[in-house]
Amino acid sequence: MGTVQRGTGVSEHAYDRDRLRQFLSGEAAGEGLSRRGVLRLLSAAAGLTVAGPGTGTAAAAAAEKPGIIKPLPAALLTVRGTNAETNWAALRGTGYHTPVDRFFVRNHTATPVLDPAHWRLTVWGSGLRGGSVEFSYDDLRSLPAVTSSVCLECAGNGRSYFATQQGEHVTGTPWTMGAVGAARWRGARLSDVLRAAGMSRRAVDVMPRGLDPAFTDGGTDYGRVRRPMPVAKALDDVLLAYEMNGLPLLPDHGRPVRLVAPSWVGVASVKWVGDIEVSDRPLFSPWNTVFYRLFGPAFPRGGSAPLARQPVRSAFELAPGAVLPAGRGHRLTGRSWSGRGGIRRVEVSTDGGASWRDARLHDAPRPAGWVRWSTRWQPQEPGPAHLLARATDTAGHTQPAVSAFNEQGFFFDAVVRHPVRVV
Ligand code: MTE
Repeated sequence: MGTVQRGTGVSEHAYDRDRLRQFLSGEAAGEGLSRRGVLRLLSAAAGLTVAGPGTGTAAAAAAEKPGIIKPLPAALLTVRGTNAETNWAALRGTGYHTPVDRFFVRNHTATPVLDPAHWRLTVWGSGLRGGSVEFSYDDLRSLPAVTSSVCLECAGNGRSYFATQQGEHVTGTPWTMGAVGAARWRGARLSDVLRAAGMSRRAVDVMPRGLDPAFTDGGTDYGRVRRPMPVAKALDDVLLAYEMNGLPLLPDHGRPVRLVAPSWVGVASVKWVGDIEVSDRPLFSPWNTVFYRLFGPAFPRGGSAPLARQPVRSAFELAPGAVLPAGRGHRLTGRSWSGRGGIRRVEVSTDGGASWRDARLHDAPRPAGWVRWSTRWQPQEPGPAHLLARATDTAGHTQPAVSAFNEQGFFFDAVVRHPVRVV
């Protein structure tokens, strides 16, 4: 095992700025992506609309057979194309960690069934001092095990609210707020694996790749899901997880081994990982050039830096349109989370945003986790109402009233207007 300096001293901000410059100047290594190639992929992706189950050929096929193996009872999960979203009402009373039966699934294609006994992880690339190194499942389990409670969330969570709250058309899976869950993950540190593989001081990027089928859409083959992350993140807190909530991973959640990249966009947590490229030059893939960046009038021409940390969000543990009797006290519950710190305050409005009061927080703020909260409400007048929850994280970010429009509908962080009916 060699020694690798933790962190390398490169801040995430500096990394993002450099990658953006490199991307805009057409400098892309590893994927052979020319600037022209990226622009072609971008325009292909612009037409890549998955407006909901039943729209578009991939989604239509998926609606019949989503490629997910675990049961998808309608009370717990809502199927959206190849994905399944957690129903927030099904989280009420479930404790801190999301039970695996209702944990959301985000699959670009379909869940592969992999046998841990035959699975191998290959670590390779110009950022190693020697040749490629293979790890078996037992090799990984023999490394020191770490257990960590971490939220996993899709960057596109809440995307449908761009249309329903802001009247804006965006592309992508129309999640409400159920593409998030918290689990107790157990696995080896990615940093231990990289050290054991002989990572050199020259390494700058690390790119894990999944063993699920290649993602194709609109006639474009984007290859297998893979996304680079800076060495600073890889050495910080990323796990190669083999357990979720005390049990071996289910196939849908990455069995036998997946990455868990705390606080970052869910796509960084590559499932069914089969190889990891370690490079001494910046790496690019469609998942940090075409997808998971912000395109729109509020962002630089050519798009934002690749998305990394998740914004602040909140949700009520209540079905949309829930019916609540008037003249009785109700305990409203929900959760808030942020990729940029713990949650230190949650305010709730039961009059559509005219007045706000602090909710009671039931968990201490912790990075990469969420807090459960509650408040009491005794509605008097029958009729439609909107409930709002607005969280603030320990870094001082408060959910805004409006989210910045972007074409692919990422990072909807505005306060959601949750409709209920008082009877
Ligand atoms: N890894 C692979 N190999 N293939 C995928 O489709 N989806 C990513 C990530 N890892 C994906 C993947 C995305 S976008 C998210 S949000 C998370 O997995 C979802 O993890 P989950 O399905 O366990 O909830």
